[in-house]
Amino acid sequence: MILVTGGAGYIGSHTVKQLLTRGHEVVIYDNLSTGHRELVLSEQFVHADLADTETLRHTFSRYPIRSVVHFAAHTAVGESVERPGKYYRNNVVSTLNLLEAMREHGVGSIVFSSSAAVYGTPTQIPIPEDHPKHPVNPYGRTKWMVEQILADYGVAHGLRHVSLRYFNAAGSDPEGEIGELHDPECHLIPIVLEAAAGLRPHVEIYGTDYPTRDGTGVRDYIHVEDLARAHVSALEAVEDGYAADAYNLGIGRGYTVRQVIDTCRSVTQREIPVVEGPRRAGDPAELVADAARARRELAWQPRFEELEPIVETAWAWMCRQLSL
Ligand code: UFG
Repeated sequence: MILVTGGAGYIGSHTVKQLLTRGHEVVIYDNLSTGHRELVLSEQFVHADLADTETLRHTFSRYPIRSVVHFAAHTAVGESVERPGKYYRNNVVSTLNLLEAMREHGVGSIVFSSSAAVYGTPTQIPIPEDHPKHPVNPYGRTKWMVEQILADYGVAHGLRHVSLRYFNAAGSDPEGEIGELHDPECHLIPIVLEAAAGLRPHVEIYGTDYPTRDGTGVRDYIHVEDLARAHVSALEAVEDGYAADAYNLGIGRGYTVRQVIDTCRSVTQREIPVVEGPRRAGDPAELVADAARARRELAWQPRFEELEPIVETAWAWMCRQLSL
């Protein structure tokens, strides 16, 4: 059985779906602080926080857990700057609780949900895994700290670990069963689609003076189902002992904010009013993955290589949620 912390969240729920499809048994551990009951796909569900070490230990005693996929974390970059203690406690201290419980119960492999935020402002595009790690906000620092803690546990206790550094997760389950439910929403594609649906008066572009093709920020958008399938491959690789320490998960292609908005216009066939605003603090101009290692070593092949079909799945989910 696989323990999936944060399995009621956006990327966690899509990964649970892929694990179940591949025949793995799953127990979800989630405090539902940002996760959703309706995204819980496995029958085994523990509604608890990783700070609750008693419930955590009890979970390891109760279920025959073989490996862990660890998503549970706070993820809002801006909030991490305002409330660093909340981020260090939940993302780092609670991960230590998890690692200690794993050690006590002899559970020896973990897939960790990391982020391109570990690189900070890139000095090289596309970004390879060995790019220097200089995170520029507390969120990114928590992810980089945990990666280093995993390496130390590997040396000291033989923990098999792999960190997956996501670029920009986007889209929704093509079958429409699950999707993105953030409140408040702060990610570009759902924000643009909310404007298309009339839930927002406009989209604000954060900065039009970047040194990019059209002056707006460039990101590497990867479909959440492709991300989820990469977790299953990484889990199997780490259990078999051949995974590297870390893999970038992106497509390797960058789109500007204006290109994203234009793609959303074409998919929705709706008007999307735009307001040009100042840069958002801490946003790098461009984040694009060198994702060759994951493709090569995990035999992982993304199904969504273009932005338009990614946006189509996000829009289908939003239309379903809003009964449009
Ligand atoms: N953007 C806008 N307007 C908006 C929202 C976003 O112009 O209303 C722009 C941003 O400035 C950026 C791009 O759209 O250029 C994408 O922004 P997102 O907020 O969707 O995503 P980020 O790239 O800022 O953040 C993502 C993850 C974080 C992670 C970070 C770095 O959501 O968890 O990548 O890896 F830390």
